[in-house]
Formats: sequence, structure tokens, C-alpha cells
Amino acid sequence: MAYETNRRQFLKTGTAAGLGTVLGGISLAGRAAQSEPLAQKIKLPPIDKVRIGIVGMGGRGNALLSNFLNMKDDVEIRAVCDIYPKRAEAAQKRVVRANLAKPEIYCGDEDVWKKLVDRDDIDAVIITTYWEWHTPMAVHAMKAGKYAGVEVPAAYTLEECWELVNTSEQTGVPCMMLENWSFRSDNLAVLNMIRKGLLGEIVHCHCAHSHDCIDHFFFDSRTGMDRWPAKYLVEHNRDQYPSHQLGPVISWMDINCGDCFDYVTATSTDAVGINEHFADKFGPDHPNAKRKFAQGDIVTTVVRTKKGKSIVINYDMQLPRPYDNRWLIQGTRGLYNEQRNAVYIEGQSPKYHEWEPFEPYHEKYRHAWTREPTLGGHGGTDLRELKLFVQAVKNRTQTPIDVYDSVIMCVHGPLSELSIAKGGVPVKVPDFTRGKWRTRKPRFAI
Ligand SMILES: NC(=O)c1ccc[n+]([C@@H]2O[C@H](COP(=O)([O-])OP(=O)(O)OC[C@H]3O[C@@H](n4cnc5c(N)ncnc54)[C@H](O)[C@@H]3O)[C@@H](O)[C@H]2O)c1
Repeated sequence: MAYETNRRQFLKTGTAAGLGTVLGGISLAGRAAQSEPLAQKIKLPPIDKVRIGIVGMGGRGNALLSNFLNMKDDVEIRAVCDIYPKRAEAAQKRVVRANLAKPEIYCGDEDVWKKLVDRDDIDAVIITTYWEWHTPMAVHAMKAGKYAGVEVPAAYTLEECWELVNTSEQTGVPCMMLENWSFRSDNLAVLNMIRKGLLGEIVHCHCAHSHDCIDHFFFDSRTGMDRWPAKYLVEHNRDQYPSHQLGPVISWMDINCGDCFDYVTATSTDAVGINEHFADKFGPDHPNAKRKFAQGDIVTTVVRTKKGKSIVINYDMQLPRPYDNRWLIQGTRGLYNEQRNAVYIEGQSPKYHEWEPFEPYHEKYRHAWTREPTLGGHGGTDLRELKLFVQAVKNRTQTPIDVYDSVIMCVHGPLSELSIAKGGVPVKVPDFTRGKWRTRKPRFAI
């Protein structure tokens, strides 16, 4: 039987430290919430320009700001915020250099963002801060009636997943995790192929986030000392970055609109690579060459859905390797393999049981969103997702990625930790839609 994520089971079985409140929070939060359709309580008229506040002016905040500066007809940057005054001031200068009105800055401490969110001249808040702030900031924004656009992962714990869902339902304000890989041109063409039935009935998927982030994201590349996310590798063993790999997958598999995650099992390797990296680069006496990291090098999570499909998800962010997502989606009539950039479709591919190139399919099934060339980071996906987010705010409609999709892309993070801690046991995934997945129709990229 799957490990039930509720308080009674938790108390009976015990588990890794820190998960108690998480599990306790789920059932309570789930009961308290209303299940009113989203974006229906917002009775505001459409707007011509979206007034934006950005919190977190580090690498990602500046990358997203660059995209907003290319959308001058549609957005105004009203305010920017960072703990560090220099970062907030630098962002303010960038906006002014782009010939836009000077945004207000908020800086100096880690709670000052509330003043930005509470302004009455802001329609949407973009959150690009440390992980622990994503959910509190998005919740505060929704409660203040502002659309929340929150970087990955939108939630780190199960309790946070429920907080986002409950708040969005109770306020009627949309919350979109800014999962850019959902908007990739190749992934959208595959979605079109699936919707046209080329692959038959979808059965199985593989995906990964294979991205060596030891030398820049988790640690400082010059000194090897911790950056803010390093603590997660010391304290947790789980899929630490759960959403990039799942971005396209949830729409490929109609998750939350026809199917639903049922349970996950997860297995981790030992933690070997981080120590070896630091010993090689800085010598055996570097503190991180000897430190004990909880985080295993590779985590493999397997999801089984209520409709009997499976998804293999790899976390792979601390061994030396080129970037890769290893997407593979397989149905009863064929499959797409991103690594091979190839497809095989039974009865249609020229040679029996041999791959054919994906590129002609990419062109033939190109999604309308990707017909015009898009500039900007990550192959244009960042600008595309922000334009669609802004369009939803302007029209006061639901965002392309809604709160249910946002949290389902995050939840195997904490659940993989629970499964690993219990020796790979199956862990039940809460149904964040509260049964609505049975009747909800696909709406992403329709
Ligand atoms: N979607 C993507 O492709 C992508 C790429 C990179 C990073 N990210 C995500 O973006 C987020 C930021 O990553 P980054 O690489 O820019 O990190 P970063 O350290 O460069 O920037 C984070 C910034 O947030 C600020 N900050 C943190 N807490 C704050 C608070 N309470 N109030 C105000 N400012 C605060 C920090 O001072 C820092 O300037 C992370 O959650 C990361 O996972 C997403």
C-alpha cells in the first residue's frame, strides 16, 4: 500500500526530521480550502498595460527584466526589490536606461518586499528570490489581489504546495510557476503531435534535469564556498529541482485534466561527486571536499498515474556532464526521443522499427506560439512565457500554467525525499485538484 501522506500515518511510522509539520499541514489545509473555480472572483476590467513589481534582482531576476524591457508596449516596471541595495539600484538604472519610467526601489532587509507587494499600483509580482521565499511571497501577492509569477520551484514542501492551491482558490487570483521548458518550440510541437494522436495512447515518459550546477549555482566557482542553495544539499536528499523536466510532460500526459499522479517511489545513489569535485579543484583540505552531504548524486523518481501510466524522473545536477533533459514520450503507436532528436511512428515511419528525424515533424506540427522567431534567453522560451503571463494579466484570465500545474511540477521534490528516507516506499501524491482532474479539459497551449 502506498505511504499515505497524512498526519496519522506520519505519527505511526515517523520519518526524516522536518517532515512532521509538512505532513500535518496537508490534511488540514486540504480540508479547509474551497474548491471554487479560479480567476472567477477577479471582476476587474481588462487593462492595457501591466504594472509589474519584481522581487529578487540576482541572475534570474535580471534575465527576466531583460525580457520585460522588450515588452514596453505591454508592461511598466513599477518597483524592484532586493535585499542588497546595489542590486535593486542597478535594476532601477537598467529600467531608466531603457527609457522607461523610474521604478521605486525596496531594499535593505529580507521583509521589505511586503511593501512592494502591498502597493496599490501593481498588477503582478514576479518572484525570483531564494527558494524559501517563493511560496510566502506568492501567497502574499495573491492575498493582495496581484497575479503571482513565481520562479521554479514554486514550492519546496508539501505544505507549501497546498498553501499555493488554497490561496489561489480562496482569492481567485492566479499563480503561475515560470516553468520555461513548457514553452519550448520542440516540446510544443510534440504536444501537437500527441493531441493529433500520432503516438497513439500515451503510456510512458522519461525526463531528467541533468545540469551540472555545482560550480555556479550551488557553490561559488572561485572559492568553492556555499551559495544560498548549498544548504539544501547538506540537509536534504531528494529531487532538488523538480520542474524543468516535468514542464512539457504534464501537458503531454494530460496531468490534472484527464489523469492525475497517484504515487511516487524514489531511489537515490550515494553522495560521491560533490566531495570529489572539491578535492580535484581545491585540494583535499577544502571544507567541501570532506563535508557530509545528504544529497545523493542521482535521484530516480518513478510516478504512477491514476490511469496506469508511468514517468521516470531523474535529478542529476552534481556530476560533471553536458546539459540534458532526456525527454522520451511513448504511446501505443510510437515515441519521441529528444536525445536522438528522432521519432518512430508505427505504420508511418519509412523503415520498420527505425528512427526517423524529428525536424520535419517539428516544422509540420509547429505550435502557433512559436511561428514567429522569439528572442531572449533559453531559446526564446523566457520571453514567450512572460508574454503569455502578461496577456493573462491584461485580460484578467487564468495564466497558461495555473496553480495546480505549478504544484504538480514541484510535489515530487518533497515526496521523493520521503520515499528515499523510507527505503524507496511508494508515497501517495495528494490530489490537489480535489477530483477535478476527471472533468477538467486540457487548456495549456490549446
Ligand atoms: N527558470 C529558469 O530557467 C531559472 C534559471 C535560474 C534560476 N532560476 C530560479 O530563480 C531563482 C533565483 O535564482 P538566481 O540564480 O537568480 O539566484 P541569485 O542568488 O542570483 O538571485 C536571487 C536574488 O534574490 C534576492 N533575494 C533573496 N531573498 C530575498 C528577499 N527576501 N527579498 C528580496 N530579495 C531577496 C537575493 O538577494 C538575490 O539577489 C531561484 O529560485 C532559481 O531556482 C530559474
